[in-house]
Amino acid sequence: MKYGIHGILILCLFASCSPRLPQAGLFIYREDDLFMSIVTQDILDVSQDRLDLQTEYGLNSQIIQNEQVEAMLEKDVPLMIVNPVDRLGAHALIRRMASEHVPVIFFNREPIPADLQLADNVWYVGARAEQSAVMQAQLAMKLFGDDPQNLNEYDRNGDGAIQVVILKGQQGHQDAEIRTTTVMESFRQAGYLLDVVGIEVANWTRDEGYERMEAVLDEKEGASLELVLSNNDAMALGAISILRQRGFFKDANGNGTVDRMDEDWIPVVGIDGVPEAVEHIEKGYLYGTVINDSLKIARAVVDLAETVLSGGNPLDLGLPIEGGKYIWVDYRPYTFPDNALM
Ligand code: BGC
Repeated sequence: MKYGIHGILILCLFASCSPRLPQAGLFIYREDDLFMSIVTQDILDVSQDRLDLQTEYGLNSQIIQNEQVEAMLEKDVPLMIVNPVDRLGAHALIRRMASEHVPVIFFNREPIPADLQLADNVWYVGARAEQSAVMQAQLAMKLFGDDPQNLNEYDRNGDGAIQVVILKGQQGHQDAEIRTTTVMESFRQAGYLLDVVGIEVANWTRDEGYERMEAVLDEKEGASLELVLSNNDAMALGAISILRQRGFFKDANGNGTVDRMDEDWIPVVGIDGVPEAVEHIEKGYLYGTVINDSLKIARAVVDLAETVLSGGNPLDLGLPIEGGKYIWVDYRPYTFPDNALM
């Protein structure tokens, strides 16, 4: 049917020509976190034409993030999507938003279970830190021959133990704490001897991954180093940069590629599966990673937000919601060429 210009003007008087999308606040703990910048972009892409998201970055300060949430409440934004700066900071946020009857979806940094129970309209979307650590350990064990009593050639000094450096994310973050303890526990439970050369806190960043790895190489000069397990890809990429500068990954056997057969190759394993890490795996520098599925996280967050804002029931989403509170997204391991990205 054709309305002509007058018809369109009359229609626009009765119904808005560009219908307003439901608004929500999106709060990210800091802007320069590699993995979070990917999740944020995925959320913005998935929410296109569905939600009008107002994004704020918390400069790694819970105080600043609280002020940003407060300002959004003053503007009557009806739902908040929060990646908290500090998991304990969620407590005050939940109470404040409950006092205004504003629902909140947390993601990536998990509030403690008791806090999630403080109010009804509060959820968490994320991935299980234990699962990523178990998969990371399995990737490394496979490389060492899957037989703890008989390590293969990657036990460079032949002492029957694996000399490992662990790069740890931000202290207190559930992913940093659980990934670190669970990855070591997985080796021990499978019967491997781990000789932990260092557990270095590098706060999720590439620069600190570089610096902490550099410090280990300086302090433990001459010591055997057989494995680097990083709580995330960004720190692993930083570690690879300094390892390359110090003579690792130089194609010792001169076959034209950096590969696992080179004596100067050292297995580094990350978590997240960011594009640059995948490239590093395909070029032979990073042995593997565990994919933290940013797109699935984004879809779950946006589907849940849209349902809640339209007055629907989250249980009708078709996603399992554990205890009415948690939506879990699975990790998956990735090495090349053993398994390709799915
Ligand atoms: C990711 C890290 C990221 C952190 C931020 C973790 O789940 O693996 O890369 O820095 O979340 O909270």
